[in-house]
Amino acid sequence: MGLLDGRRAVITGGGSGIGAATARRMAAEGAAVAVIDLDGDAAETVARDVNGHAYTADVTDFDALEGAIRDAHAQMGGLTTLFNNAGNSNMAQIHEWDLQEWDRVVRLNLTGVFHGFRAAVPLMLEGGGGSIVSTSSISGTRPSAGEAPYAAAKAAVAALTATAALEYAPTIRVNAVAPGMIHTGLTDILLTGFDWTVPFMTEKTPLARIGVPEDIADVVVFLASDLSRFITGQNLVIDGGMTLHGAGVDGLFDRFKAMIPPPKD
Ligand SMILES: NC(=O)c1ccc[n+]([C@@H]2O[C@H](COP(=O)([O-])OP(=O)(O)OC[C@H]3O[C@@H](n4cnc5c(N)ncnc54)[C@H](O)[C@@H]3O)[C@@H](O)[C@H]2O)c1
Repeated sequence: MGLLDGRRAVITGGGSGIGAATARRMAAEGAAVAVIDLDGDAAETVARDVNGHAYTADVTDFDALEGAIRDAHAQMGGLTTLFNNAGNSNMAQIHEWDLQEWDRVVRLNLTGVFHGFRAAVPLMLEGGGGSIVSTSSISGTRPSAGEAPYAAAKAAVAALTATAALEYAPTIRVNAVAPGMIHTGLTDILLTGFDWTVPFMTEKTPLARIGVPEDIADVVVFLASDLSRFITGQNLVIDGGMTLHGAGVDGLFDRFKAMIPPPKD
């Protein structure tokens, strides 16, 4: 018996990192899984591993995302579980953010999650309900310098989660996970490109290590399963205790500032 036997899950950003680990963990617990990613080859690779379905779609394009989710619903014979996980960012000081890059970061990290709700909720309600989990970040709960649009968008994901939990209870439970520093495609350059970043981050983390994608995937499985049946509207921080001290990546931007090119006109 798996924790997710009979569940039918869609995962955005499922081609890499946290999304890929979650696809594998969900499948291991008995769920049928559809992987949606901007990178179609990566989605295919993960979907093959879990005997699931792969879609190439950009979460910022509502029609493309809705098309993928509707097809996944048809292929799997229903939809019980949505993991809104695609996201990424850059670093810059607020007055130096390029206007288009600001819009891209907010659209990907916030509007992309809204698009997931908008496409999936009608199908989930029609099927009798389920569980939605979205990926926020410690950047949204304890922001650091250099990540303004990302921090604002991730904080908004926590607010969107609470609103949705109220709107769709008791039929759909809605929660978010707020990862700390996790070694994925997103953070690889940070963690392997400099010799000081791993000791710097490890020292700030009471549990004394950098996170791995499975640290988040296991919590997403919990939130998708009946083990969390009385939890809704929460934004669960999974950071090894890093933000107990204050903001998570504090000091990082100051160290990188010297390497960041000057703003465009
Ligand atoms: N890694 C961390 O330390 C960390 C910390 C806090 C939050 N997060 C969040 O976790 C989530 C997953 O990130 P990750 O660390 O696994 O990174 P990752 O880069 O390994 O995986 C992200 C995946 O999302 C896909 N993607 C990017 N833009 C997309 C789009 N517009 N439409 C569809 N797919 C898209 C990428 O192709 C990639 O496969 C993100 O929302 C990120 O902000 C990560």
